[in-house]
Amino acid sequence: MSSLSVEESADRLQVQGHLQYDTPDHITPSNVHPSPLEQFHIWFNDARNASVREPDAMSLSTATASGIPSSRMVLFKQLDKRGFVFYTNYTSRKSRELEENPQAALLFFWREMSRQVRVLGTVEKLSKEENEEYFKSRPVGTQLGAWASKQSSVVVEDVLASRLAKFVEQFGIQASGKDGDVPSPDFWGGWRVIPREVEFWLGKPSRLHDRVRYLHIAGSPEDQPQWTIDRLSP
Ligand SMILES: Cc1cc2nc3c(=O)[nH]c(=O)nc-3n(C[C@H](O)[C@H](O)[C@H](O)COP(=O)(O)O)c2cc1C
Repeated sequence: MSSLSVEESADRLQVQGHLQYDTPDHITPSNVHPSPLEQFHIWFNDARNASVREPDAMSLSTATASGIPSSRMVLFKQLDKRGFVFYTNYTSRKSRELEENPQAALLFFWREMSRQVRVLGTVEKLSKEENEEYFKSRPVGTQLGAWASKQSSVVVEDVLASRLAKFVEQFGIQASGKDGDVPSPDFWGGWRVIPREVEFWLGKPSRLHDRVRYLHIAGSPEDQPQWTIDRLSP
């Protein structure tokens, strides 16, 4: 049963009330890991173990050079010592914006756990070798789809189907095939978001949520970044 009440009139839809968050756990600067990447690792595993639906789905926000923002969902694919990786088409709108303004914001919302993780940072492209290695691991249908889609450009449905057919023929493999030798397109690959700020949020009753924010200490060694950790007011 929804805890929302909605009032609708001719010129307005007004929403009142919301689910009360009531998580028993607490986070404070003293009980989190000194590294936000390790803390993320812990929370990501918690989300998987709690059967959160799509814990790997995250919102990615980018902005044009003049600061016009846009957001969309992407899949989190890798956490390494430097940051968070997702894959996409390098000619898409998000990639064009990241080329002209290499700043990104990521947001995970794990509803079932009343948890949110917010990441802000600069981006870099993955190397050709890293892209090829990951592309090889993808299902054949998805590999062919990457070739067929000129992501973010206007398309009519028939064109997408005929482009797919073209690549099925070119590579001599069906989209339903199990294994294939589909080469990695050079217009497709990963971006890594290297965080300078990460915030962990835990929903509590009466909007008195727990927030713990890490800020990267400028000049700390790249292989061992240091962070200040603060509690923020909800
Ligand atoms: C849950 C979810 C996961 C998605 N994952 C990806 C992804 O990993 N990579 C991607 O390019 N698009 C992904 N999409 C599609 C994007 O949201 C978006 O429609 C597409 O990338 C084009 O965005 P752009 O025009 O801003 O570049 C996903 C969509 C959803 C709803």
